[in-house]
Amino acid sequence: MYHFIKKYLFTLDPEEAHERTIAALKFTEQRGGTNLLRLLYGHSDECLASEIWGLRFPNPVGLAAGFDKNAEVYRALAALGFGFVEVGTITPFAQSGNEKPRLFRMVEDQAVINRMGFNNHGADAAVENLVDYARADVPIGVNIGKNKITPNEAAAGDYEKCLERLYPYGNYFVINVSSPNTPNLRDLQETESLRQLIKAIRLKTNELEQRGAKPKPILLKVAPDMMDEHMRDVVQLAAAEGISGIIATNTTLSRKGLTTHPRSKETGGLSGRPLTERSTAWVKEIYQEVGNQVPIIGVGGIFNGDDAYEKIRAGASLVQVYTGMIYKGPGVVKAINKRLARLLKRDGFTNISQVVGVDS
Ligand code: FNR
Repeated sequence: MYHFIKKYLFTLDPEEAHERTIAALKFTEQRGGTNLLRLLYGHSDECLASEIWGLRFPNPVGLAAGFDKNAEVYRALAALGFGFVEVGTITPFAQSGNEKPRLFRMVEDQAVINRMGFNNHGADAAVENLVDYARADVPIGVNIGKNKITPNEAAAGDYEKCLERLYPYGNYFVINVSSPNTPNLRDLQETESLRQLIKAIRLKTNELEQRGAKPKPILLKVAPDMMDEHMRDVVQLAAAEGISGIIATNTTLSRKGLTTHPRSKETGGLSGRPLTERSTAWVKEIYQEVGNQVPIIGVGGIFNGDDAYEKIRAGASLVQVYTGMIYKGPGVVKAINKRLARLLKRDGFTNISQVVGVDS
């Protein structure tokens, strides 16, 4: 069925297609259609379930940040079979993001370039949508960032504001310092800045917990464009400062793996097939560095079960998909999970957690 829907969606401007998809999911939710979605797209197999950070993941395939920026349709997304859904990036205050057009498909390369710039309705609006997060049946992650107008010196305050508002409304939180589309955001990955930022966030969560909040895992999402040495420092620092997990990776500034398509010159972060190998290589590196202490979520260019299996074998405890769903449709989640279960059995494993890091 997605074959026909995709034909239609791909005639539209990519952002328009995205907005219509969100509207359709919202409509489905409001009309009580999530059960139908679950019936069509759900897939349950105990060998794919695992427990990480005290949370139960029914399967390891999550939706990556950036699709449901305002936490509007996470229930419908869970019904599409995702084992977890990450909403955001959410900033303290609403902002419109960069000028349009800012989202580009490169169909020949199964890739996307985006320079959205954290367009979102802000933390207060997200809270309204997240009040029911615990009823989603799967863990809900909340990815947070800073407003464009906030200078880097004051960035910690933005992350603190997000946590102050959103902490009761998600199962895990992600510090996003790796989007290429907010000027200088990636500078926060510099070792000293990052140390200060994580310390400030830790103080904030301690304060919230003293006021009675339940402790939540805090993850760090990293860019794939760091030098080897720097990435090692970053993940060592994250582990030492008590970060619960690493998400590897965000989109890349590199244009390697793209055919000479006029749109490949667009500025922004590249995702999809050209990112597959690069992000898997980072998962492997990070796993070798801190994998026994810090679980990794592998993301970048996953289109099928074999791609997901490779990331898990490289060291990812969980994986996420975004661009793969644009090209393959919502059925991609079930297809990945079915294939993963088959690969597990083929290789003599009884649970997905046994495969994590076997290639590293
Ligand atoms: C993203 N991504 C992203 N990541 C993030 O942490 N916050 C965000 O707001 C966004 N926004 C966003 C918008 C669009 C249109 C895309 C395509 C991607 C990055 C995303 O979560 C993921 O890390 C990368 O896209 C790599 O995975 P895929 O797309 O290759 O599966």
